[in-house]
Amino acid sequence: MLPEGRRAPTSAWRGIAWHNAAMTRHDLDPLGQSWAAPVPGRRITVLGSTGSIGTQTLEVAAWAGHDVVGLAAGRRVDRLLEQAHRWRPALVACDEDLADRVAPHLPTGTRLVTGSEGLAQVAQADADSVVAAVPGFRGLAPVRAALEAGRHVALATKEAMVCAGALVWRAARAAGGRLTPVDSEHAGLYQVLVGEPREGLERVVLTASGGPFREGPADLAAVTPAQALAHPTWRMGPKVTIDSATLFNKGLEVLEAAALFDLPLERIEVVVHPQSLVHALVRFRDGSIKAQVGPHDMRLPILYALEAPERPPLPLDPLPLSGRWDFEPPDTQRFRCLALAYEAGRRGGSAPLALNAADEVAVAAFLAGELRFDRIADVIERVLEAPWPELDDWAALPEADAEARALAHAAREHLGVRA
Ligand SMILES: NC(=O)c1ccc[n+]([C@@H]2O[C@H](COP(=O)([O-])OP(=O)(O)OC[C@H]3O[C@@H](n4cnc5c(N)ncnc54)[C@H](OP(=O)(O)O)[C@@H]3O)[C@@H](O)[C@H]2O)c1
Repeated sequence: MLPEGRRAPTSAWRGIAWHNAAMTRHDLDPLGQSWAAPVPGRRITVLGSTGSIGTQTLEVAAWAGHDVVGLAAGRRVDRLLEQAHRWRPALVACDEDLADRVAPHLPTGTRLVTGSEGLAQVAQADADSVVAAVPGFRGLAPVRAALEAGRHVALATKEAMVCAGALVWRAARAAGGRLTPVDSEHAGLYQVLVGEPREGLERVVLTASGGPFREGPADLAAVTPAQALAHPTWRMGPKVTIDSATLFNKGLEVLEAAALFDLPLERIEVVVHPQSLVHALVRFRDGSIKAQVGPHDMRLPILYALEAPERPPLPLDPLPLSGRWDFEPPDTQRFRCLALAYEAGRRGGSAPLALNAADEVAVAAFLAGELRFDRIADVIERVLEAPWPELDDWAALPEADAEARALAHAAREHLGVRA
């Protein structure tokens, strides 16, 4: 029996807990997980510690008083060693061939592990929360490892949900792991949806800055890597910055939102908001709109992901409520990558995984000066022409990823260098 005055929820939200009459929406977070377990604590590990999200996470850790018990990075040895001496974690991981440059310089009590095995070991190390910020398909395995160890994962690696959303949730459920989004739009949605009944939700809206080419040039063929790397509002790693310039990043975020919040694609809108101050909005069926607003500073969503629903203070200036806030629809003719992401989501199966692999290949080729900016979408389109069946076990993912990459390389070669 429900306590008096409490309405039974009408939907089995992710099939978790709603069937338990003692539970209400206030017991569950916006992803349908119990607020109670596992409770984020003070000991964190950071995967991708030398990158944009990683270094900002360590700033947050210093402010909020977290202990850093594990660090994993790839090749930036000097930065990794600096972090190891500052935080003295039990475990540090780097690329295998760099072990000789790292091991002799680690502080006493810190052990080095290397390669993908080492990355998984750090992901599973004894910690309360794992900040997952290794980009791309390669960031998926450590997310899985952390969840299978029952960890709370603060998820920046959006590709994990795009490539394997259902499997990621299955891993989390099986081992009692938990996910909280770090991506600013998803962190925004999460905050807006705290305590809201699912059945009141009409649509969600993700905002996009529009990137450096929002106002031109009309023809994107001659865009250079340097131009595409100059993002107007966010400072991020190179891959995600190029993806922001093509709007592919927003496409990934649409797919990530669908997988994280269990939403059909037709309920996810994108709106361009160049000021990047409104991160996400939710339209409710009574006509109300709720938005999450804040400075474009990733340290806020990182802190929230580590502490939600608590809100410890951060030493940042308050956001001035002045100036203009613009909203406009995205131009999916010039920025075809966004439309292609919706298309991959509609096709389902492993199409989103193939879309991601194609983009990783195309962006690397663009940065290497081997592919025109506007041809990134062409490469993705060609890869999506193949059939991409449903994959329901982890073992099938690397093969599908490799197949998509092979097709993308073939398309890239065919589409030619700078022609
Ligand atoms: N940056 C943002 O503002 C932002 C916002 C929302 C979401 N995200 C998402 O967060 C993720 C990280 O983005 P980022 O901008 O922080 O990327 P980034 O600046 O390029 O940093 C990537 C990090 O991952 C490490 N790494 C790469 N390959 C690795 C491997 N095989 N093993 C271990 N570590 C590896 C890198 O190490 P080395 O540099 O030492 O090689 C670096 O520490 C992406 O999925 C992105 O989409 C980023």
